[in-house]
Order: sequence, then C-alpha cells, then structure tokens
Amino acid sequence: MKIKILMVCLGNICRSPLAEGILASKLDPEKFQVDSCGTSSYHIGQKPDKRSIETAKKHGIDITNQRAAQFKLSDFDIYDFIYPMDQSNYKDIIKLARNENDKKKVHLILNQPGFNEDIDVPDPYYGGKQGFEDVYQMLNSACDQIIEKL
Ligand code: 4NP
Repeated sequence: MKIKILMVCLGNICRSPLAEGILASKLDPEKFQVDSCGTSSYHIGQKPDKRSIETAKKHGIDITNQRAAQFKLSDFDIYDFIYPMDQSNYKDIIKLARNENDKKKVHLILNQPGFNEDIDVPDPYYGGKQGFEDVYQMLNSACDQIIEKL
C-alpha cells in the first residue's frame, strides 16, 4: 500500500499544486501518492495559476496536468497525512474531522523543524511573481522535512 499525502490550500490553484508537485518530485511514485485540493469550491476543475505553473517549471517541475478539486470528507479515509498551507485551511479541515483519528492526520505544513510554530504559507494570489518564488522556497524546505519523517 502506498503512503498517501494530501496538500491543502484555499483555491487549489496556487500553493497546494506547487506543494504537490514539489513533494511528488522527491518521492518514488511506486511507494507514495501525493495529491492536492482546496477547502473552497472556487476553482474546481481549473489548471493551476499560470504563476504557479511558471514557478514550478523554473525549478524543473511540470504541474500542468493538475486540476483543482475540493476537499471531501472521504479524503480522511484515503490519506495518511493531510498538510494545510495556513491556519485558516487547518481550522477548516479540523472542523470537518469526524474523530480523533481524522484530526491526527492533519498538520500545518510549516510546523516542521527550522520553522517557527504556526507560520502560514502566505497566499500569493493577489501578489506578484516573487510571492510565488517565496512560496516555492518555503514549500521546498518543508517537503524535505516531511520526507525525513516519512
Ligand atoms: P491558493 O490561492 O489557496 O493558494 O490556491 C488562492 C487562489 C484563489 C483564491 C484564493 C486563494 N480566490 O479567492 O479565488
């Protein structure tokens, strides 16, 4: 059985598609499944934001095949680890948890060694390109830490 990891943000077009692409690029697809989704329904079915696609490409990662999806209760049954990007996403997912086992799967992605507690991956949607590169760098470090614990 593969270990299954779900990256979560609000729209599933900026941050979590990058997180999915970065983590998947570092793991053996025979052993791990990495996906992403949003807490909102705003962008269901859409490709990642052009700026996320460009930023990933710059680092050798192709995320163009991803399509936005919304978090579903059944995701608690599918995934072993659920990583929200910020505290708002974290709260929205925890609110949906049906039991302690569901809750135990949910970890704020930057709650890793080397980051201060409860730091958010900032939403880059309304900003410029540099915001996406900053998000990439944060997520790249966080993914390395996640892998060390797997
Ligand atoms: P994401 O960014 O949560 O990183 O995908 C956002 C994308 C779209 C919106 C908000 C955040 N929106 O409000 O449409």
